[in-house]
Amino acid sequence: MRKNIVAGNWKMNNDLAMTESLITELKKQSQTSNAEVMIAPTFTNLWHAFEALRQSNIEVIAQNMHFAESGAYTGEISADMLKSVGVQTVILGHSERRAYFNETDDLLAKKVDAALKNNMRVIFCFGEELADRKSGKEETVVEAQIKHALFHLQADAFKHIILAYEPVWAIGTGETASPEQAQDMHAFIRKTLSKKYGDETANTVSILYGGSVKPGNAKEIFSKPDVDGGLIGGAALNAEDFYSIVNAF
Ligand code: G3P
Repeated sequence: MRKNIVAGNWKMNNDLAMTESLITELKKQSQTSNAEVMIAPTFTNLWHAFEALRQSNIEVIAQNMHFAESGAYTGEISADMLKSVGVQTVILGHSERRAYFNETDDLLAKKVDAALKNNMRVIFCFGEELADRKSGKEETVVEAQIKHALFHLQADAFKHIILAYEPVWAIGTGETASPEQAQDMHAFIRKTLSKKYGDETANTVSILYGGSVKPGNAKEIFSKPDVDGGLIGGAALNAEDFYSIVNAF
């Protein structure tokens, strides 16, 4: 169902003590908001975060998972393991996993299938490189990423899919896409969904923007008709900044 969502991707940050401290600050900030709020700590801190936030309106989500149910995959984590520590939503396809761990759209399709098979929600990430945008290929690249990883699914599956457009050139750089650039791409994504699955499905999928969202730009970005929230990196590591973004709705 299409909702306003702000999710904090903590990436490889915060040990247990820092996780406890940030969660304490988040609890002080958290109040009823017009958005669903999620945070994605590292694997080692998921259980503690889940327990600490059990009575809150903050959902604890995972940054990744493997497609296999179990087995000889050293260092990996399965859907069952995530569910056993209370996690029901997982980020898949982040550009850093694509870049540093060679995650292809075919591999990501398997991960999406595994998450859905385990009744989990997926935040599926995609986005173009700077060279793609400079050569005017951003829509071609984004369409291919979405089609390869998701268009084998039935329409019904999109009830459990949240899309996150993250132009790689805006991630961690302070170089945010303009609100107009974000809206143009989100509208294109929704049109691409509509062509395949129809307007009803396309209009019920939340499409988040990620890439240097900060307290100073969140309101304008989130005001765009096809932007349903944000996937936040650096600003999620500060409770006050994160809730300034949450409260931008
Ligand atoms: O997943 C969100 C992240 O990639 C955005 O990072 O630091 O640009 O907000 P940041």
